Amino acid sequence: MAVGIFDSGLGGLTVLDAATARLPDLDFVYLGDNANAPYGVRSEDEVYRLTTQAVENFWDHGCDLVVLACNTASAAALRRMQESWVPQGKRVLGVFVPMIEALSERKWGDNSPPREVAVNHVALFATPATVASRAFQRELAFRAIGVDVEAQACGGLVDAIEDGDMILAEALVKSHVDALLRKMPKPHAAILGCTHYPLMADVFQAALGADVKVYSQANLVAESLADYLDRHPEKVGEGKVSKFLTTGDPDKVSARATQFLKRGVVFERA
Ligand code: DGL
Repeated sequence: MAVGIFDSGLGGLTVLDAATARLPDLDFVYLGDNANAPYGVRSEDEVYRLTTQAVENFWDHGCDLVVLACNTASAAALRRMQESWVPQGKRVLGVFVPMIEALSERKWGDNSPPREVAVNHVALFATPATVASRAFQRELAFRAIGVDVEAQACGGLVDAIEDGDMILAEALVKSHVDALLRKMPKPHAAILGCTHYPLMADVFQAALGADVKVYSQANLVAESLADYLDRHPEKVGEGKVSKFLTTGDPDKVSARATQFLKRGVVFERA
């Protein structure tokens, strides 16, 4: 019984944590492609190549279901993977769908015409690749009308978090929020559209102000995973143990993960 959780690095741990809290009896295999992070400055083709290469690892660990807990991979690679790469009997899900469902107040398969929703001014913080893909705006536009999305590409932030340089990470969050607020002075809601950013959620919230609702992508993804497994219990897979795998240096990655999750985490080499 193991579900795979993938990220370019440490950010997917925010999703893993929420998924573990929501599905405590489930085993998870986590894989961080730390050797190749960040993905957010790479081309779509590179993100596709790295993501498919990493996801193959999960099949060998008995996972039939993999969650791309990475917005960049979800935006740049997932559709292509689902159309032509995912083998029969396996499934790869992304992190966009639950967020769009929450904002658009409807289920993914609801194909009725777009309608007005409660949140009209949305600040999107994401990696340069996710912002460039415009995947978020495109999916939202199919479902909701009158929603103004202002996107801020948060260059440098994933590197700072991966390096554990929290002073730099904090300064970058403040300057990216300032830049966003110059373009959209009064957002109703903010989306941390990169799974690394919830590790800085307090700094985002303080910089945005208490009246801006910051959407928790991790909890939405965990809820959506629980719902998916209710409908597809056979996708739980055959693996039996929880594991943390990295393409990077296991000691370094374990130390950072322990710092972020505030519990002991030991990574093995993928
Ligand atoms: N956590 C990834 C995301 O959600 C970070 C991407 C990166 O490596 O730049 O987009």
